[in-house]
Amino acid sequence: MCGIIAARVSDDATPYLLDGLERLEYRGYDSAGIAVRTATGGTETIRSVSRVGDLRTLAAARSGDALTGVGIGHTRWATHGVVREANAHPHADCSGRISIVHNGIVENADRLRATLERQGHVFASDVDSEVIAHLVERALAVDPDLMLAVQIATAQLEGSWAIVVLDARDGRMVVAAERSPLVVARSARGDFVASDIGAIAEWCETFVALRDGDVVELGEAWTWSSAGITVPVPFPTPSPFAATALELGDHPDHMAKEIEEQPAVVSSILDRVARRAADGSMWVGLGLPGFHRLAIVACGTSLNAGQVIAAALRGIGGVPTDIVVASEADQAVLGPGTLVVAISQSGETADVLRALDRFEDRHPVLALTNNVHSSLARRADAVLDCHAGPEIGVAATKTFTAQVVVGVAAVISALVASGRIDAGRASALVGELTDLPARIEHAASIAADRIPLLVSSVKDATGFLFLGRGAGLPYAAEGALKLKELSYRWAEAYPAGELKHGPLALVDEGTPVVVVDHGEQRLQANIAEVRARGGFVITIGGEGSDIPALGRRAAGDLAWGPATAPWGPLEAVVPLQMLARELALQLGCDVDKPRNLAKSVTVE
Ligand code: F6R
Repeated sequence: MCGIIAARVSDDATPYLLDGLERLEYRGYDSAGIAVRTATGGTETIRSVSRVGDLRTLAAARSGDALTGVGIGHTRWATHGVVREANAHPHADCSGRISIVHNGIVENADRLRATLERQGHVFASDVDSEVIAHLVERALAVDPDLMLAVQIATAQLEGSWAIVVLDARDGRMVVAAERSPLVVARSARGDFVASDIGAIAEWCETFVALRDGDVVELGEAWTWSSAGITVPVPFPTPSPFAATALELGDHPDHMAKEIEEQPAVVSSILDRVARRAADGSMWVGLGLPGFHRLAIVACGTSLNAGQVIAAALRGIGGVPTDIVVASEADQAVLGPGTLVVAISQSGETADVLRALDRFEDRHPVLALTNNVHSSLARRADAVLDCHAGPEIGVAATKTFTAQVVVGVAAVISALVASGRIDAGRASALVGELTDLPARIEHAASIAADRIPLLVSSVKDATGFLFLGRGAGLPYAAEGALKLKELSYRWAEAYPAGELKHGPLALVDEGTPVVVVDHGEQRLQANIAEVRARGGFVITIGGEGSDIPALGRRAAGDLAWGPATAPWGPLEAVVPLQMLARELALQLGCDVDKPRNLAKSVTVE
């Protein structure tokens, strides 16, 4: 969480910092700030407890010394310290000479702060990050070399950090990382630093990602130190996406754009699958040792995608598969011969990385991620790229669909490679996937017609139930998760059969109950039980449903009816996403940046 940016350019750094911060806002948006070196060797710091737009207004209104091309910026997701201006980054040392931005958590901050205060350092904020500025200041008092000072300061930190340190006196800039993402890049405009290459892709075509323990000084020539030893600057990697992929175009918000992109994302994944099948390099021949069972480790929406993939593994190949909630991995006991599949769109989720600490010595790890340069990808034995393209909306949409499709294709490939299914069964399953882009498009167009009116009937409800059975259940869970995170209304998902064991007591006149009806016969009885208590049922299913969005291929044509694929009714996720978005919009919520959340959750 938190996004950081820095620029060393020849003209004013401010517009670069503000544009970059706007693109990083998905990482946190409680407050934002920049610090730019002035032409007289001072620092102009501007902070706001609002969004980057507000910071832009404050920056435009400033007067004072001319600004240089050297500056740093930060957008915050609060951990230590409430949301107030003093807690917003950048933070400074006592003299104001050193400014820093930090993403991560300094776990020993209280101890360090107490020592520094005893030594006379005065703190201006409640946040853990401020100790870094003071540690650098203390080190500089002994040796004037900023690079060395940052190495000395970071050696005292416990926890995780991506930091940029700016010395206003001479404009030197040093960056460092440990278990938090940070990239550096050089282009014709100058040097840039960011939490995510997407923030600077407009100016930079290549980048280098810092590894844990790296400390780098930017400038004419970069000085790169790895675990305290000076090493050659690593060879840069091409940026994975065009800057235009981040633009909204005609879409009202990123979530709308990303929902709409799903058929194209699925098509491009299926093209890749077809190419790999043609050249005989299907995915899970990836050199991994044979496995007897799987453990899927993930959080949130990725966990729901994991449930779908697990259902496919069990349903197609009878492979026992455990689901491990990453933040509860300490409780998991994995038997020998278990392959760990870690799913994370960002690849930076701290709970997932922490779970790997527990598993990676004894089990091979396969990462399924939308960021092949992420910490997760670097730690895994093999990586499957979700190929969803950049996702800016905080609520995951197209990455869920991409995770499921890539995961299911990998499952099919692995089951053929291990002899659990034959080629005929595999091609029938791949045939079911082939229709998906058309089915998703159909589901989206039906949902666009039906959802606004349905939502206006339930928009005053304070709570929602989501029901499903079997392969439909992870989709009900995903629908409930989307709805609560976007609309701030209670929403819980249950296996429909569980309703009568307690949750049915919640159903009253008008209680909205959303049912993912993929054709399981017993659902009809559960729907009747809800209707008998006055519940307002919204079914997402085949012909005759409130949102008749599910389809299957019959006699060569697309027909709309029950979905029978082992991975369940994947196209149902689109109406569920649209339902949550529409409710949030009708309630006046920001669908791209829901309150209290951030896209990349780098704290436990
Ligand atoms: C919900 C959402 C979150 C994430 C979760 C895991 O829309 O986006 O629940 O799915 O924080 O994130 P990743 O996939 O990056 O590990």
